[in-house]
Amino acid sequence: MAPSLPPKPPHAHRAALAFLSLALLFFFLLYLSLTPSPLPSPPPSSRNAPADSLSDPHRLFLSLSPGANASIAGHLRALTLRPHLAGTPSAAHAASYVLVHLRSAGLRTLVADYYPLLSYPASASLALLRPDGALLRPLSLAEPADPEAAAVPPYHAYSPSGAAMAPGVYINYGREEDYRALDRLGVDVKGCVVIVRRGGGYRGAVVVRAAARGAVAVLMFKAADRGGVERGTVLLGGVGDPLTPGWAAPAADEGGGERLDADEEEVRRRFPKIPSMPVAEAVAMEILRTLGGPPMPPAWRDKLPLVEESGVGPGPTLINLTYQEDKKLAKIQNVFGVIRGSEEPDRYVILGNHRDAWTFGAVDPNSGTAALLDVARRYGSLLRSGWRPRRTIILCSWDAEEFGMIGSTEWVEQNLGKLTSKAVTYLNVDCAVQGDGFFAGATPQLDKLLLQVTKQIQDPDLEGRTVYDSWVASNEGISKIERLARADSDFSAFLHHAGVPSVDLYYGEAFAGYHTAFDSYKWMIEHGDPSFHRHVAIAELWGLLGLRLADDPVLPFDYLSYSSQLHEYAATLITLLDGGRSVHPLNASVDELTAAIREVLEEGKKLQVVETSEEFAALRIRAFNDRLMLAERGFLEAEGLRGKQRFKHMVYSPPEDSESKMLFFPGIADAISRAGKHAGKGTQLGVHHEIWRVARAIRRVAATLRGELI
Ligand SMILES: *[C@@H]1O[C@H](CO)[C@@H](O)[C@H](O)[C@H]1NC(C)=O
Ligand SMILES: *[C@@H]1O[C@H](CO)[C@@H](O)[C@H](O)[C@H]1NC(C)=O
Repeated sequence: MAPSLPPKPPHAHRAALAFLSLALLFFFLLYLSLTPSPLPSPPPSSRNAPADSLSDPHRLFLSLSPGANASIAGHLRALTLRPHLAGTPSAAHAASYVLVHLRSAGLRTLVADYYPLLSYPASASLALLRPDGALLRPLSLAEPADPEAAAVPPYHAYSPSGAAMAPGVYINYGREEDYRALDRLGVDVKGCVVIVRRGGGYRGAVVVRAAARGAVAVLMFKAADRGGVERGTVLLGGVGDPLTPGWAAPAADEGGGERLDADEEEVRRRFPKIPSMPVAEAVAMEILRTLGGPPMPPAWRDKLPLVEESGVGPGPTLINLTYQEDKKLAKIQNVFGVIRGSEEPDRYVILGNHRDAWTFGAVDPNSGTAALLDVARRYGSLLRSGWRPRRTIILCSWDAEEFGMIGSTEWVEQNLGKLTSKAVTYLNVDCAVQGDGFFAGATPQLDKLLLQVTKQIQDPDLEGRTVYDSWVASNEGISKIERLARADSDFSAFLHHAGVPSVDLYYGEAFAGYHTAFDSYKWMIEHGDPSFHRHVAIAELWGLLGLRLADDPVLPFDYLSYSSQLHEYAATLITLLDGGRSVHPLNASVDELTAAIREVLEEGKKLQVVETSEEFAALRIRAFNDRLMLAERGFLEAEGLRGKQRFKHMVYSPPEDSESKMLFFPGIADAISRAGKHAGKGTQLGVHHEIWRVARAIRRVAATLRGELI
């Protein structure tokens, strides 16, 4: 099933090929002279909705769907034959597979190598001891679902090495409210090993909360794991290589570039202070069943195979745990396919997906990689039909995302100046398919385009409906577009650091095999997407979004959606704060933004009908587009969020407090939670200052849209 690599034409055949190409070109030109359409009319697509509003190349793109599912399946099979953890030899196979297929599609390819600090497990052990310290029984750290141990053993990347021999305490999800419940039970986790189930937010934040309360180690499990154990990173304090904060990691493991020392404070604060390990649910239950102490609150037992008498601990049994980390510089590779724009080669539309996986990666991320290669195949066909995008299109295959978005972040840091002045949009797909139902996230000026494009793509599961129809139906009439305040995929550096408008697309909400050995091709063909039509839908949505952004003369950005979203945020904030007085600067700036957007809309309408023969028409459109493109950058504050200076986006960076319910205005959200923890005048002023920072950012956006100085 694996697509074989295209054979290189032997030299002897070159002349014949050249002749054939000339003959084809001749017939093509003849054809063009006989038809009014500038491109061959695509055959009617069987699966896609009427596409009357699309240009010919865009219709041709959608007409290339028959057979796409089989070719995507072939790519996925080939990419998932073996695990390909970043920095390991099999990761290099996956990189060259993607490179070869981007090149054979007809794209110019590039590779960017880096040597960041990655983290692997060297050894680990776990045992349950009697209260007197004698061995009760050893506990397995292996993953039952991976009997051949083909994948890396379950571990937490960047967990420090350590050993602990201490009583265990069960802390439910390890959230603030769970610790408050423990306080009420009179249980202190100080000096204990905590056992926690997944669901309390980012795993690194769970470890930090446990360490802050004096726990000495963390064992993490996922309820109903069916034999898979969830690997993951616990890297703290943002994204990217811990040794090169703010600049790109060197392309060699020694010399040639600057790195911080691993024992500098700025590096050490990226790692938790206590070791943590993922364990199978069955192993966690073996421990929990031996715990005494106060009985567990009933909700803490929910969905777990435990009896009513179970206690939360501590002890009386002891947990003996050791973990040895192997932290080292390792080679990672970002692979790119580039199509140079014909009219605006210095404007970039960027499509990206990561390639590295914890295990086989059929869902995470190679469903997205297979879709990316299908987009490349279709773009290649368009190129051969004579199409050139107006703006440059860059397809990116990132490495080491699983460790902390490292490949994409290093590249953004390396190209920051170019991206902030020239990047139009970043379109991300991580797990293309992890189940059913379409999901999308976007910065709001892209909402309208996203809706338009979903109306043009056939629903992969229901004949005669579009993706839009099903999406709206599943959200009771409102198509719910998520916002991108999470730092859990490769859009983070683009949006939160460089202020590039971004989109994220996927099928399926969650998937039980996440980061386990169940994330295999077998799972995909049995459960995820047996006929690969959801993959095809993602490739069509992603590729068509890319085409519209690369080809539309006036950028399809609608900022009204942004200002109404900001109005909603301000209204929510009023309910959280002192009846709204302090929110006034924010409301005033949103009103100003709305006024600016209305002017821009009028101007845009006039530009739509500008005759290209008019003097300076192209330049006027270009200047207008630049204002639309650069407006998002106005949300960046140069000094960034307090304590996290590389998160600069004042609306959509992730808040410090991973339990925060406010997924916008992260600076304000953090100031509010600080004020909640330490009441006082100073903290109130902190909230006020953050409100002003956001208000100033919004005014900058308004001024950029108007093209005026302030
Ligand atoms: C705890 O585990 C370590 C590593 O397996 C072992 O060397 C040590 O003897 C154990 N301690 C006890 C008290 O069993
Ligand atoms: C592709 O789709 C067709 C039509 O639904 C189906 O018959 C075929 O099995 C699919 N191919 C793969 C590889 O899933």
